Amino acid sequence: MPRLIAPSMLSADFGNLHRDCRRVNRSAAGWFHLDVMDGLFVPNISFGFPVCKAIAEVAEKPLDAHLMIVEPWRYIERFAALGVKYLSVHYEACNDRHLKECIKLIRDCGMGVGVAINPETPAEVLIPYLRSIDYVVVMGVHPGYSGQKYIPETTEKVAVLAEMIAGAEADCFIQVDGGVSVQIIAELERLGAGVFVAGSAAFSSGDPKAAIRALLEA
Ligand code: DX5
Ligand code: ZN
Repeated sequence: MPRLIAPSMLSADFGNLHRDCRRVNRSAAGWFHLDVMDGLFVPNISFGFPVCKAIAEVAEKPLDAHLMIVEPWRYIERFAALGVKYLSVHYEACNDRHLKECIKLIRDCGMGVGVAINPETPAEVLIPYLRSIDYVVVMGVHPGYSGQKYIPETTEKVAVLAEMIAGAEADCFIQVDGGVSVQIIAELERLGAGVFVAGSAAFSSGDPKAAIRALLEA
C-alpha cells in the first residue's frame, strides 16, 4: 500500500479543534487518528464521544479510532455510529474470547478491524488473529501520551510482523503509532509498515500541512 499518514488529533489544539481538523482536511493526510484513553488501561485520560463527534462533523477523511481502554467491546457500536471507519482495540485489554468477539463486532459494524500491541508484547501473540483482521497497530511508545521518544526495538518488531503476515498469507497492513518522525519513517516502510500515526510530528511545528507533506516525502 502507498504510505499513509494518520495525524493523531490528541496533539491538536483543543481550543481550535475545528480549525486543526480543517488543516488536516487540506493536507495530504490519509486518515484522522483518534486516541481514546480511559485512565485505566493507560494512566492518562484523553477524550471520548463528544470530542470524537466534534471531529467527525468536520473531518473529510476516514476516522481511525484507537481504543486504549478496558472492556473495549462495550463501546464498539457507538464508535461505528459516529462514523468511525477503522477501529483498533488492544490485545492486552482482552482475553482470547473477548478479542475474537471484538474482531467480529467491529467487522459486523462495517469497520476495518485493528489490533494494537504494546511495546512489551511480542508480535507472535497475534499469529492466531492475523487472517481475521485488517491491520496491526505496533506501538512505538508506551501508550498514554504523545510526544514520547520512539522505542528503537519497534523497528525489528515491524520486520517480524511483516514476515508473519506474509507467512500466514494474511491480508493485513501494519500501522506504527508513537514516536514516528521523518528520521525513521522510510525505514519502517521498507520493512513493511504502511500507515503511520503522527502526533507531535504533525502538529508541533504549527504547520500540519507542511509537516504531513514532509512525512510523506521523507
Ligand atoms: C499514544 C497514542 C499515539 C500518540 C502519537 O498513546 O496512541 O497515537 O498520540 O503521538 P506521537 O506521534 O507524538 O508519539
Ligand atoms: Zn494512537
